[in-house]
Amino acid sequence: MENIKGIKIVSTGSYLPPKILTNEELSRMVDTSDEWILTRTGIKERRIAEKDVTASDLGAAAAKIAIGRSGLKPEDIDIIICATISADKIFPSTACFIQNKLNMPDVTAFDVSAACSGFIYALQVSAGLIKSCMARNILIVGTEVLSKFTDWQDRSTCVLFGDGAGAMIISSSDHNDALLSCHLGADGNYSELLHIPAGGGKMPASPDTVKKHLHYMKMSGKEVFKVAVVKMAEAFEKAVSKTKLSVSDISLLIPHQANMRIIDAVARKLDFPLEKTYVNVHKYGNISAATTIVALDEAISEGRVKKGDVVALVAFGGGFTWGASIIRI
Ligand code: UT7
Repeated sequence: MENIKGIKIVSTGSYLPPKILTNEELSRMVDTSDEWILTRTGIKERRIAEKDVTASDLGAAAAKIAIGRSGLKPEDIDIIICATISADKIFPSTACFIQNKLNMPDVTAFDVSAACSGFIYALQVSAGLIKSCMARNILIVGTEVLSKFTDWQDRSTCVLFGDGAGAMIISSSDHNDALLSCHLGADGNYSELLHIPAGGGKMPASPDTVKKHLHYMKMSGKEVFKVAVVKMAEAFEKAVSKTKLSVSDISLLIPHQANMRIIDAVARKLDFPLEKTYVNVHKYGNISAATTIVALDEAISEGRVKKGDVVALVAFGGGFTWGASIIRI
């Protein structure tokens, strides 16, 4: 492993639960409308996991597809890293459940917690582990069942989120580095603008926290919106500036899919063409850590990205956290 130059992206996969929840159906559950949701967010529908389906189930399904496309055997994988905010349990890690479901005993497995930026954080951690010769092949999974942490009586959040999973396999490369650059950031000052208040050590579960719906996601949407636009644009610019490339060399921008108005505002701020910006928010809503990898997998399947193309993944989420990766497919 002495000649490692970097990583290569070997394969991707994604899995979305089949059940669709439309805006129309939501408007029969809370005081909202298809028109409000579509004009304020761009979302038309989202996927919802069945009652007994967990983040590790979706993650394992996406991982199986990525492994199947990789030409590797499960025993070739050295490490599984999972990014999620809708873990099966507070502990053990969702990566351990995925490891078990994939029947990969003894493989190192752990979670990365960086909310919607989780996949970009996990990719950077994985690349570091490969470049420091700790691993040759890593399975990275971004998976969410946000529907289970959604207050279905709160119209300000329940229209926004969905469920799904994506996976990527990266391997060591003796030639080039497919992770051309990365910029990560965080600001814990904003932790209460997007969070689940109860169920952790700060506010342990009690009948009172359950009664007050404090185990569900809470968001100050307007404030999050403003910082998201600034930080996603900044992360993209900083990541590009660490490469020898110019913005016109980026074949596809894959921004976090929380709101079409945020995607528009980021593209406008960067003066980046919308036709080179990937959008699937209308189909899935916000699937947090799964968003960028599901979008990348779809973009590859649709032929929007070809071998050798340069793609920018950009995300923003609770923490606050943000990040951008410039990758060569
Ligand atoms: O993944 C991490 C990143 N997350 C994000 O980036 C999300 C960022 N925030 C957003 O996307 C937007 O702020 C929202 C979509 C959450 C909200 O859009 P907004 O334009 O900021 O609306 P608002 O919260 O200011 O609400 C405007 C109005 C309010 O009514 P009044 O006070 O003006 O009478 C809300 O009560 O819209 C009302 N409203 C709704 N009406 C119908 C809020 N939610 C709904 C709803 N249906 N679902």
